[in-house]
Amino acid sequence: MQLILNGRMVGYDENGDGAPLVLIHGYPLNRMIWEAQWEGLNQSARVLALDLRGFGESEMVAGATAIETYADDVHELIRALAIEQPAIIAGLSMGGYVALAYARKYGAHVAGLILANTKATPDSAQAKMARDQSAALAQEKGAAAIAETMLPKLLAPKTLQTNGELAEQVKRIMASATVPGIVGALGAMRDRPDSLDVLQTVNVPTLILAGADDALMPLAEQEKMKQAAANSTLVVIPDAGHLTPMEQPDAFNRAAAEFLKTFARA
Ligand code: MLT
Repeated sequence: MQLILNGRMVGYDENGDGAPLVLIHGYPLNRMIWEAQWEGLNQSARVLALDLRGFGESEMVAGATAIETYADDVHELIRALAIEQPAIIAGLSMGGYVALAYARKYGAHVAGLILANTKATPDSAQAKMARDQSAALAQEKGAAAIAETMLPKLLAPKTLQTNGELAEQVKRIMASATVPGIVGALGAMRDRPDSLDVLQTVNVPTLILAGADDALMPLAEQEKMKQAAANSTLVVIPDAGHLTPMEQPDAFNRAAAEFLKTFARA
């Protein structure tokens, strides 16, 4: 589905009934990464998956993008859909950075957090330099070049060996991103603040999901989030790299459905 918000096209899907669950994709992906959750969690929640600006069916906006900009976009969509009840905000990787930015700014609207394959700490100086190099690559060679470099980092070696169809699908999703969307996301990630304090202060039920073979997010980072969030659970999903919702959708959905029971209406 699409709607126009502030003169800009926004792509999203909505399915199911119950407490609102907002799914925010990672970089350089789009809402298609949540297909199995959209199908599998609609008995547990009202599932809303959106495309961030410059990805999927959401139009880019000229000017700099900050992590907080995406959080504002999420809030605008929630309001446009007349969702008044606090939502469970779920994000994968960059989507997790956005979820934490959302919790920082719109904490009263957050019932719970699902933080998948993500971390709360900011970029190191080296990581910031790598963001600028990736932006130059995107500008010079386009989204397909970014897709080529990202793919081996996103999927577990086992997934790459055994699930060629998924690898192709992920590559297609990445190659469909717009260059301004990619460059905007890289700048937003590079400049994002440390958000461990958000986990300490927002204090909502939090599910932290890790892929046992995630090459991008060391388990130590997810353990840091667990320590910061008093009311949190950490689940490590075997045979999954960075894209747990796609690589192990059943295990992901089982953990999420169990967590979502916390928010079921009495
Ligand atoms: C993502 O998957 O969203 C990104 O790889 C996260 C990052 O680069 O920090």
